[in-house]
Amino acid sequence: MRKCLYPRMLALVLVLMISFVFPRQLLAGHGEKAPMKKAVLLVAFGTSIPEAQHVYENIDKMAREAFPNVEIRWAYTSKIIRKKLAKRGKILDSPELALARLMEDDYTHVAVLSLHFIPGEEFHNLYVNAHLFGQMEGGFQKLLVARPLLSSYEDMERVADAVIKHFPNSRKKNEAVVLMGHGSEKHPADAIYMAMASVFQKKDPLVFLATVEGHPTIDDVIPELKAKKVKKVYLMPFMSVAGDHARNDMAGDEKDSWKSILESQGFKCEAVLTGMAAYPEIVNVWLDHLRSVLKHFE
Ligand code: CO
Repeated sequence: MRKCLYPRMLALVLVLMISFVFPRQLLAGHGEKAPMKKAVLLVAFGTSIPEAQHVYENIDKMAREAFPNVEIRWAYTSKIIRKKLAKRGKILDSPELALARLMEDDYTHVAVLSLHFIPGEEFHNLYVNAHLFGQMEGGFQKLLVARPLLSSYEDMERVADAVIKHFPNSRKKNEAVVLMGHGSEKHPADAIYMAMASVFQKKDPLVFLATVEGHPTIDDVIPELKAKKVKKVYLMPFMSVAGDHARNDMAGDEKDSWKSILESQGFKCEAVLTGMAAYPEIVNVWLDHLRSVLKHFE
């Protein structure tokens, strides 16, 4: 009697094991995979400044041209900005909500592009949450997260060349450019700004990169400007859009803005309020990261 039970128990154990290992949809009889339906989710910090918004529109346009057969959607990571925009009737999703909607709309293959500069805190949060969505049963067949802008030495070189190309024409030989990156004080990826600064320095010794919330700081740059006997400084955001940091912390009139600090040290200042994502060469670096992810869907 006992002997006969073993094969049955074994079968039961096997069935249980299989149903844990394989997603339910594959065992459920309606088992054929849904036909591929591709989507891209562009994720940015967000901005509530209309001029800066145009820069995102530029990315959107370039992405649609580069990937004409793919659904393209947006999400903003900043809750404050999403709430501000919602008051004006402009509804933008968080990445999580946008992914849930894509799932609901039966997209099978999703590429998430982080429009961040470094793989810092925001990127990692996005990466973790997106992958959790990717693991859900009955959801996407494949979800991949593309890398942020500065993900390799080659990226840094391309970005530096693009930025230098867009320096103001009025800049004279002995005039410096100080770029304001965001920075991420508590994240190891903050070190990328140091690396990026040295890439700029190699290409043009009068180009400096500092950050608002990480390192290097503007105080690190001032002695170098003095050592190189610089009289005039162009200030430019090294961020995707010329948002609040660029307008206030960089070019604002408050005492602690970079413009005020540099002027108090005797430098003449001129601010350029164009976000980096307005430059097609920079957007193309992001889109190349997206392209290499979409290749995995072919
Ligand atoms: Co900030």
